Amino acid sequence: PKKLRIAIDGPASAGKSTVAKIVAKDLGYVYCDTGAMYRALTYYALQNGVTPEDEAGLVELLKKMKLRFDPSTAIQKVFINNEEVTEAIRQPDVTNNVSAVSAHGEVRKQLVKYQQLIAADGGIVMDGRDIGTAVLPDAEVKIFMVASVSERAERRFKENTEKGIMTPLETIEKEIAERDYKDSTRAVSPLIQAEDAFLVDTTSLSIDGVVAKIKEIIAKQQ
Ligand code: C5P
Repeated sequence: PKKLRIAIDGPASAGKSTVAKIVAKDLGYVYCDTGAMYRALTYYALQNGVTPEDEAGLVELLKKMKLRFDPSTAIQKVFINNEEVTEAIRQPDVTNNVSAVSAHGEVRKQLVKYQQLIAADGGIVMDGRDIGTAVLPDAEVKIFMVASVSERAERRFKENTEKGIMTPLETIEKEIAERDYKDSTRAVSPLIQAEDAFLVDTTSLSIDGVVAKIKEIIAKQQ
């Protein structure tokens, strides 16, 4: 069968990465988490005293930053200049600054180019905010995954608790809503459902339920 490009977009904590990983593994495809790239840059900027508003400074940092993903592990490891930052890029300070970093046109231009290179040979599941609209506008399969804010906050709360991050549920809900607002209203490649994307609402679905639904959609394109 043809090696497809599968684009999965949607708001924060809708379950994109969990499901994308499973689908990629089952198909023998590569999984690419584009959010991790914006997070890595945000982490690196905070470490180097570059503010999230400083577009030129961020672009300079990108030039100095060697980003590496290790997809061979269950949790895809992320490295900046050989320092492992897998966990560091999920911390609240990064999460709360990443939307400001990702809003810059020049930053997106660089990272989108890199993402398109990774996807060039197909056989990939890529998740993010603008994959179906800007990164891979001609992807064979496009999914737009949504869930209610309260459901997403609860899922993230559970994940955080397991990782020892103790942010209260109400704060998480507020932060998720804020990040969605920023990502959906930015001028460059805002978060929006592509016209030809399938909408999947995961609010009352289990992970297996979502995976099954997406596999059905993929089967129709094969
Ligand atoms: O997917 P994740 O929540 O890790 O993404 C972190 C942030 O990176 C998003 O809130 C968004 O600001 C940015 N992002 C983006 N475009 C993508 C993926 C992520 O702007 N394709």
